[in-house]
Amino acid sequence: MNKTIDIQVKKTEASKLPETDFENLAFGQTISDHMFVADYKDGEWKDFRVEPYAPLDLNPANATLHYGQSVFEGLKAYKNDNGDVLIFRPDANQKRLKESSIRMCIPPVPEDLFMEGLSRLMEVDRDWIPNKPGCSLYIRPFIFATDDYLGIRPSATYKFMIFTCPVGHYYAKPVSVKVETKYTRAAEGGTGYAKAAGNYAGSLYPALLAQEQGYDQLLWTDAKNHEFIEESGTMNVMFIINGKLITAPTTKGTILKGITRDSVLTLAQEMGLPVEERFLAVSELQEALENGTLEEAFGTGTAATIAHISKINVGDKDYTLPEKPLDAFSYKVLETLDAIKYGKIEDKHGWITK
Ligand code: COI
Repeated sequence: MNKTIDIQVKKTEASKLPETDFENLAFGQTISDHMFVADYKDGEWKDFRVEPYAPLDLNPANATLHYGQSVFEGLKAYKNDNGDVLIFRPDANQKRLKESSIRMCIPPVPEDLFMEGLSRLMEVDRDWIPNKPGCSLYIRPFIFATDDYLGIRPSATYKFMIFTCPVGHYYAKPVSVKVETKYTRAAEGGTGYAKAAGNYAGSLYPALLAQEQGYDQLLWTDAKNHEFIEESGTMNVMFIINGKLITAPTTKGTILKGITRDSVLTLAQEMGLPVEERFLAVSELQEALENGTLEEAFGTGTAATIAHISKINVGDKDYTLPEKPLDAFSYKVLETLDAIKYGKIEDKHGWITK
């Protein structure tokens, strides 16, 4: 898209800022004042605008409601001590949104439209970025089909929207997880690598069953034999066994290419921790839990950041992980990531967009 991006801005006359309790931010419950909107019609993205956050007017025949042709992203904005707005790796989110869109037959949003829409929204809602450590503005870009048509075919019209929420921690405490060996999140050739709405819908029922048994989340395994660990419902997962960091590779198209995952792997290598991107067998995980060689287990994600895992269920056995020392890798990498995100140390990887 090479023409100048003309974005109309209409500000709210009734900001929700004065009534917002920034001291108690539950994840995803408080929505900021404005949203960015673009429409796809007649083969192009058009009508770019920032407007007050408001409900949508949808026809019951809307294709997304029936067939789930919808993709989304999650990224975060922070403020440094000078009050500058810092966004963590928006270029990586734009690329992943494009990959997800292609898989779901959605016309990708051009890079300059994504960046410009995001930047205008940040300008208008910059006061919604929390100033507290551990808090940030969660940004949710998404695209969905808007044709009113009940036949199966890609929609000819779409909406691209971005709205934001000031957030605290997604998980307030370490999580317990259960290795899932019946249900499947993603199979080779499927949509597992795409951040597609349907992937999350399909994971809800098995996750609910695990929650009824007292676990917070699942550890998904491969679709063929449920032999190897893939990822968790809300995050990628990493294990440190015998001084090596192990995480599933994204090469088979079944794993979400996490941006926090990628950042942690880069930092781990720089910190001298050997990294193995390979499938970890459930049996190897269980052996490491039995013989005490599993040093750390944690999830990585934009919402979850680094989520420590405190308990793992394999088969009919629960394993409680030992308390981690404060110099454990997962604490150190979280500290380094936060220092980059809040502009406390030099951004030598070029991850921050001001
Ligand atoms: C994210 O980490 O941004 C996600 O989209 C995961 C979701 C559970 C909030």
